Amino acid sequence: MYIKHDAETKGNKIRKQWATTIGKGQSTYTPTQVVIEKAKGRYLYTVDGRRLIDFTSGVLVQNLGYQHPAFEKYFRDYKKNLPRNVYNMMTAIQTEASARLIKSMKNNPKAQKMLWAASGSEGIQKAMWACMHRYPDRHMLLATQYGFHGKKGLAADVTGERSPNPNVRFVSFPMQNPESPEFYLEELDALHKEFPGKIALFITEPYLGAKGSFHPPAWYHQLVQKWCNKHDIPFLFDEVQSCFGRTGNMYAYETYGVQPDLVILGKGLASGEAAAAVIGRKDLIDALDYGEASDTYSASTAACAAVCATLDVFKEEKIVAKTKKMAKKVHSTLLDLKNTFPFISDIRGEGMVYGMEIEGDSLANQCVLEAYRATEKQGVHLLGPLAGKVIRVSPPLTLTENELLDAHALLMKAWKKI
Ligand SMILES: Cc1ncc(COP(=O)(O)O)c(C=O)c1O
Repeated sequence: MYIKHDAETKGNKIRKQWATTIGKGQSTYTPTQVVIEKAKGRYLYTVDGRRLIDFTSGVLVQNLGYQHPAFEKYFRDYKKNLPRNVYNMMTAIQTEASARLIKSMKNNPKAQKMLWAASGSEGIQKAMWACMHRYPDRHMLLATQYGFHGKKGLAADVTGERSPNPNVRFVSFPMQNPESPEFYLEELDALHKEFPGKIALFITEPYLGAKGSFHPPAWYHQLVQKWCNKHDIPFLFDEVQSCFGRTGNMYAYETYGVQPDLVILGKGLASGEAAAAVIGRKDLIDALDYGEASDTYSASTAACAAVCATLDVFKEEKIVAKTKKMAKKVHSTLLDLKNTFPFISDIRGEGMVYGMEIEGDSLANQCVLEAYRATEKQGVHLLGPLAGKVIRVSPPLTLTENELLDAHALLMKAWKKI
């Protein structure tokens, strides 16, 4: 099944070819099936000549926007003349990127050593393997309920609310109306009582993204970390989505005031190259022996060059400070939309990552479609709704005030038609 948009001859042709050549499973459902020809800054240009303001950053990946001139130059320079695959070799760019990533984790003395991966879920898997190898006599894996850590292997096992893995146990995560600290502590204590000395790790996300944008109070993560420290259980923070400025700090563990034993990074750290990383306690990272965390593409020279180039731009352009400032404006723009349109029931989020809850699933899909079609030549690009009816708003961190105003005007126009 593919969508046809009126007057999109080129786009419709590609959508049709896509549907006949690529399996449905390749993509998550998006009501617009946007077909892009080029991208620059915060704008996407469709093959049929329409211009869209990007409110997605890809899937929270292109935090610097598209074709960022300084990034592109540094990226080219860092990888110049290097082989693409360095599986059985070492290069200086790999050690430079690793050292700089570790150093970027100031405020966390546990950031001592790292492993690379080529996707977020592989990073999660490697982080969990590290703990399981460090504590081979512990078989239990704890995770917070409704999290999303990936679709593969152990990452999938600790995702959601039920697991095919009998060693996984879920605990509650604060959502709409957080319980008292005692409630969460009692749950944790009960599990410790059931499996004394048998818990290999505790994994959580800073906030529930895929489940529909639930950002917990900071005390929740601090409580969990204290409990983990007390029982000598590694505390794993999945920052695949939140790293590199998304919550208004370089890392979300700073936003929430914790110092995890392992932090898993992905998406934004390499501005679109395939990279993920696990950074943390040396004894955990070193628990994996030669080859136990190796694969064909991890720590590619392009990934490492992209990490260095991203770090350069973050420093030179003070991206985190700018994000903090723009975040307030993005938030008030979203609140204004909520006040205008009664079908928006809630706005949740922080920094440059928000969820806009819409009154129903089909209405949420309609909002995404209308945003795309706002005017003949322009629109706003949004991800397909999460958890049925929550529209994710995650523009590039480099979004300007004027672009935000333009997006606001387009959405006002688009959603008046609903
Ligand atoms: C919090 C979180 N963890 C893990 C993943 C999995 O990353 P990947 O899709 O790169 O495997 C995602 C992807 O959306 C994510 O948001």
